[in-house]
Amino acid sequence: MKIVTAVKMIVKSLIKKDEYAQFVLAEKISERIYPQYKFSEFGRLYLYDKEFLKYYERFEGTKNYHSLDRKYVLNQIMKLTYNVDGDTAECGAFAGASSFLMCNHLLSTHKKHCIFDSFEGLSNPSGEDGEYWHQGDLSSSEEIIRLNLRNFNNVEIYKGWIPERFSEVSSRKFSFVHLDVDLFQPTFDSLEFFYPRMNQGGIILCDDYGFTTCPGAKKAVDEFFSDKKEPVICLPTGQAFMVRR
Ligand SMILES: C[S@@+](CC[C@H](N)C(=O)[O-])C[C@H]1O[C@@H](n2cnc3c(N)ncnc32)[C@H](O)[C@@H]1O
Repeated sequence: MKIVTAVKMIVKSLIKKDEYAQFVLAEKISERIYPQYKFSEFGRLYLYDKEFLKYYERFEGTKNYHSLDRKYVLNQIMKLTYNVDGDTAECGAFAGASSFLMCNHLLSTHKKHCIFDSFEGLSNPSGEDGEYWHQGDLSSSEEIIRLNLRNFNNVEIYKGWIPERFSEVSSRKFSFVHLDVDLFQPTFDSLEFFYPRMNQGGIILCDDYGFTTCPGAKKAVDEFFSDKKEPVICLPTGQAFMVRR
């Protein structure tokens, strides 16, 4: 880039606060420093969704927007299951950010939302899980999630290691299940339990499928669905979902 062009771009973005110029400058810098990252198109409307940003920042603060896109996708995809009977569940809920969205969707229904989490963080990673995660990472507490979800009376919390407490909901059917446990074994165990209990049209959404940090979660989904008729739909956010036929 010529020096004059660079100076013009810097003036426009930093002094005139021209948003498009800021975007172009950030993209140019990123191309140099981290070319692996590909900027998406300028001006995506969801980034201006004030209500959604307020919800997100309440849980994650303003320094980390790493899962903004995934939370947005979850919130939208759940609409596809409005006319499907059955409860919802989340395996791996941490402080309840995703469960908050899920409970919110159920407000005018009789559906219940079931949460399964150790609240002691991840279980012991296995050979399939690579080196990134360690036992106990992402630990939270039952008190925090109860506080965050205190305004919902449709939520049931099952504290324990997956799959220990699944038997308590074994007679139920489900319309939407969110898997977010990062590792092979609890992802596989969750699929084994919930897949046969999904009503037709129900959706299983896996948060961790498309990340280099979570090879075990991808392996669990691929192995489990290798003999099933439903295709695994991968999203650029790193999520994957399947619609029960
Ligand atoms: C990435 S966090 C979940 C984030 C959450 N979905 C959200 O909306 O912020 C992963 C969660 O999985 C839980 N977890 C991981 N392995 C588990 C296992 N084997 N049994 C129960 N919970 C587990 C952890 O305690 C942690 O809360």
